[in-house]
Amino acid sequence: MTKISSQVKPLGNRLRGKLARTIAPPSPVAPPSPVAPAAGGRFGPISSAVIAVPDDVMRDIERTSLNRLCTTSDWEAHGPLSQVMNELNDSVCIHRKSWEYALCILGLRQLGEYGETSKAIAVGAGYERPLFHYANEIQLMVATDLYDNPDHEGQPAMLTSPETFAPFEYREDHLNVLRMSGDQLDFPDCEFDFAFCLSSIEHFGSRETQRKSLAEMRRVLKPGGIAAIATELILNDGTHDEYYTYAELEEMFLKAPGFELVGGDLDLRIQQSLLDYPVELDRHRNTNASPHITLYTEGCLITSVMLFLRRTVD
Ligand SMILES: C[S@@+](CC[C@H](N)C(=O)[O-])C[C@H]1O[C@@H](n2cnc3c(N)ncnc32)[C@H](O)[C@@H]1O
Repeated sequence: MTKISSQVKPLGNRLRGKLARTIAPPSPVAPPSPVAPAAGGRFGPISSAVIAVPDDVMRDIERTSLNRLCTTSDWEAHGPLSQVMNELNDSVCIHRKSWEYALCILGLRQLGEYGETSKAIAVGAGYERPLFHYANEIQLMVATDLYDNPDHEGQPAMLTSPETFAPFEYREDHLNVLRMSGDQLDFPDCEFDFAFCLSSIEHFGSRETQRKSLAEMRRVLKPGGIAAIATELILNDGTHDEYYTYAELEEMFLKAPGFELVGGDLDLRIQQSLLDYPVELDRHRNTNASPHITLYTEGCLITSVMLFLRRTVD
């Protein structure tokens, strides 16, 4: 069983003020929309769960649910997500990774009562920015990953020199980086106040392994603790071993035993231009061109979806 040290320095002055406590209603019912489900285009019929919104209409829609798709309207100048991206010292390009990191932090701020005594675990963590952010905010941030891929996010060097990946100064003794498989978290029950797993769970192997990982996250969370999950939703009629169709997303996450969706209804609205002009991974030379939000690969049109799941009391 992995022991986590609580021998940490007192909080520095980077600790931000008291966290907000707004909790949106929990029922996972699709929100009403003035716009019909998308009919489809170059990339095949759009899933009936997804709602395409003309870009000019999307500009005027205020999306309040934390459980939603990545869209460019979230890069509102001086908006709440742009502010968190600034806090994370993130680049100015419109990239869904920045959105995942910022919405994870914003959502956990709104839903939780986290502060200097909290402990959190990140699963399939790589060297993501929220790790360093939380090292400055909470008592202990534990990053777990296989850390076996020097060419991608799971770089082994993170185990020995996390400071070389840090986008800003952080309290080194508040971040613990461990090699651990996401479906076997080597911690006691109810150890952590919150967890996050950002665009990783779909890479953990079979759906069964992914289900096991979600159950592990639940086990190590305290009752009432939140798991923030970002994963890939298929927006068209494609299917894939890793990316989720809406039906699979519902089955795996929205109906996960012992969890409830919190932070608002799942909002699957997305602006039309993102469905029409994805980054085509097999065609475009610059696959990081902005906006990097919707991607087309292997017959699947995908984007990031964020879900906040609260561990219910047994
Ligand atoms: C797409 S990366 C995302 C990394 C990070 N969450 C981020 O947002 O930058 C997926 C990560 O999952 C990790 N991974 C793959 N299979 C895993 C497993 N079975 N257990 C834990 N981590 C795993 C990889 O090493 C990689 O770091």
